[in-house]
Amino acid sequence: EREHVVDHNLFKCRTSSRNISEPSHGQLGGEGKICPRRHSRSGPSGLVSPNCLESTESGHVFVDCQERRLSFIPTANTWSNKPKHLLLARNRIKVLPDGAFLGYENLDSLDLQQNQISLVEDGAFQGLTKLTTLLLQHNRLQTLSEEALIPMPNLGYLRLYDNPWNCLCPMDSLVRTLQVPSNRNLGNHARCAKPIWLKNMKLKHIDPELLCKEPDPANNQQSDETGYTGVLEPSSIQSKPDATTVCFTYHYPQIRMDCSNRGLTEVPSGIPDNVVHIDLSHNSISHLKARDFHAAKSLRTLNLSNNNMEHLDKGSLTGLLHLQELDLSNNNLTFVQHGVLEDLYFLLHLKLEGNLWVCDYSIQYMVYWLSLHPGVSPSGLVCYSPLEYAGDSVEEYVKAYNRECPKQQSRPDQDQTDPELWNTLMEAQAELEEEELEPSALRVPQKYQIIRLS
Ligand SMILES: *[C@@H]1O[C@H](CO)[C@@H](O)[C@H](O)[C@H]1NC(C)=O
Ligand SMILES: *[C@@H]1O[C@H](CO)[C@@H](O)[C@H](O)[C@H]1NC(C)=O
Repeated sequence: EREHVVDHNLFKCRTSSRNISEPSHGQLGGEGKICPRRHSRSGPSGLVSPNCLESTESGHVFVDCQERRLSFIPTANTWSNKPKHLLLARNRIKVLPDGAFLGYENLDSLDLQQNQISLVEDGAFQGLTKLTTLLLQHNRLQTLSEEALIPMPNLGYLRLYDNPWNCLCPMDSLVRTLQVPSNRNLGNHARCAKPIWLKNMKLKHIDPELLCKEPDPANNQQSDETGYTGVLEPSSIQSKPDATTVCFTYHYPQIRMDCSNRGLTEVPSGIPDNVVHIDLSHNSISHLKARDFHAAKSLRTLNLSNNNMEHLDKGSLTGLLHLQELDLSNNNLTFVQHGVLEDLYFLLHLKLEGNLWVCDYSIQYMVYWLSLHPGVSPSGLVCYSPLEYAGDSVEEYVKAYNRECPKQQSRPDQDQTDPELWNTLMEAQAELEEEELEPSALRVPQKYQIIRLS
């Protein structure tokens, strides 16, 4: 109840301040400081500008007001340049009143995710004619009229999921708009929370006819089990969680997905190809499967720490050509299968501590791969078992292992470690392993041409 009253006041104050074009005071105010006018003593300029970060990247003006406890949209004249990207994620905004973005006519993207928005007035987005991306996921919206979208003819990307949509008649025009085939990136993943007979159905797939139709009680009774199953999406069909709905996505400064602590037992599907950082730490993933990251071509940081990882399938990291940081710490890995790391050309940091590395022959691939990638700084590669090597560096273990073998074979009198010998051995071993793995067609000797580029 109380919240509701506050909401209403917020809206009133906001509206009146706009009408008399008063600058935006007190936007940082908490619950007690609602009306801008109460703060008009704040000097002739009157601006209490929220402590946001204004920056320019490749000619685009960004205003980053994420996590600033804002309960209002700052007015456009707060900024020295007209922003192209406005980031308001993780604030305390509850209402988007009519005209909330007047003066923001240059906006290309608007991020309002993770607020407490429960009301969007029909005229809220007035003037945003250039807007292409609008993020409203993780809010408290129950309904939204299609009217609200009309001022944004260029909108191509709209996120509405994780809002408690009440799929009744007022949603009819919005749902029909989302379902127009050319609007394929509007409202994906959003699902009804109410009414009960439409719960969990996607706005994209719902039959709009059902929105304005009360369920017929007679019909309902007679076909209790079959009545609506024709339209319900059984949740069991969705075997794999979808990254976009399960994780939080941040768009600034680079696209980052936070999927930590979600109780995941596998890598979610649908990781978008433009994600640069992904955090999957503190889940219960025991196994990476081939193609888990096949679409994530832009990935530079992958955090898989604190899972139950026991095995990385060959092919599970393929395609990650730009990965720079891989955190595998605090898992149950005992070795890394040959070939798993092959695509990681640009890896710089590899965190391996807190695993169960077994110092036997199977660990050699890891060490060999590291010897060929001197740019990688690994940490935590320490033998866990067998007991006699526990606590030793794996690299030292492998060197000692290779030092002992040749002695027994053909050079009984050589007792010094020979680095060249070490290299030769590792190369020979690698060739052997490649023979086993590469299809013969790939083994045809390659012809190289040396081209002078100076
Ligand atoms: C991965 O996540 C853990 C736990 O959240 C964190 O401590 C660690 O620093 C992260 N690793 C990287 C490389 O960012
Ligand atoms: C992982 O290893 C720890 C011991 O380090 C063990 O307690 C745990 O049960 C293992 N988890 C799995 C899934 O095997």
